[in-house]
Amino acid sequence: MRAKATLVTGAAGEVGQALVRRLAGSGFCQGRRVLTMDLDPLPAELSAHVTHVQGSILDTSLLERLVSEYEIEEIYHLAALLSTRAEFSPDAAHRVNVEGTLGLLHLAAQQSEWRGEPVRFIFPSSIAVFGLPDTATKEKYARVREWEWNYPTTMYGCNKLYCEMLGIYFGRHYRQLAADRPTSLDFRAVRFPGLVSAFTLPSGGTSDYGPEMLHAAAQQKPYACFVREDVRIPFMAMPDAVKALVNLAQAPLEALSRPVYNVTSFSISAGEFRDHVKRFFPDAEISFAPDLKRQRIVDSWPADLDDTAARRDWGWSPDYDAERAFAGYLVPNIRRRHGNEAGSTTPDGA
Ligand code: SER
Repeated sequence: MRAKATLVTGAAGEVGQALVRRLAGSGFCQGRRVLTMDLDPLPAELSAHVTHVQGSILDTSLLERLVSEYEIEEIYHLAALLSTRAEFSPDAAHRVNVEGTLGLLHLAAQQSEWRGEPVRFIFPSSIAVFGLPDTATKEKYARVREWEWNYPTTMYGCNKLYCEMLGIYFGRHYRQLAADRPTSLDFRAVRFPGLVSAFTLPSGGTSDYGPEMLHAAAQQKPYACFVREDVRIPFMAMPDAVKALVNLAQAPLEALSRPVYNVTSFSISAGEFRDHVKRFFPDAEISFAPDLKRQRIVDSWPADLDDTAARRDWGWSPDYDAERAFAGYLVPNIRRRHGNEAGSTTPDGA
């Protein structure tokens, strides 16, 4: 008999490591084995608790092998190329972000049909699915709801928006003309703001100026921020991102009024981000040297997200506002990590 499993793709990435730590404390997730996949190896302290498969989500024979060995009941599909990186390699981004997701949706649909029960498919989408045309509009529509301004300006944003649609299609309409329509998957997505972890740095994103500023300050390195001081987007501390994914996965299906939810924690400008960093690292050398192209991307993202639906339907509520994120999570953990304070760290998701 095949072992039941939760599959996490992109497991060695920023969100992946934090999520795996949370899911895999014991190596099992509600009786399921935690199966992780990534191009890269997992850090040793994580790989001891899970079954890690090093490889590409585009490798169909690898996916077939997984399905022959495991009954996959739940998928957290995190693998993706982020927004800045995707602008430099749009074809690669389309392959990984869209074709990779399509392959996993097919896998989930097949597994759902075989089991006669929907596989849960959890998908982190992004603030990048929104695209406001100019800063005046951004100011006017400060808290954007899920269905507003779905006009992404980046390859990554287009990929995420389309994959939301594909997920909804697979969940609700896949093989809709078949005489006996088989059980398909249970697709659920959250749209994240910029994420900030005390333990890892993102790579290739456009909201990276926040985490980069903070990590540079902790290492006493000067930092030139690539967006204007006044630009504002929402952020979230990594433990809240993990909480959002897990809580959405656990919510009863009947409670969900939509397949895709905004989630957010705190909205601050780059200048306010700098002020928070300077409170804890007063000697930090932070300057602003906007890169107009990356600036344009951040200008097109909303200043804040309206997450009323997530709060109402599945009780979403972040644990960390800006104050708590900096004072209670980011700064103490980063200080210890960079050796300027004694004590043990509590990694994301632990
Ligand atoms: N953090 C992502 C990026 O900057 C947005 O989801 O690409």
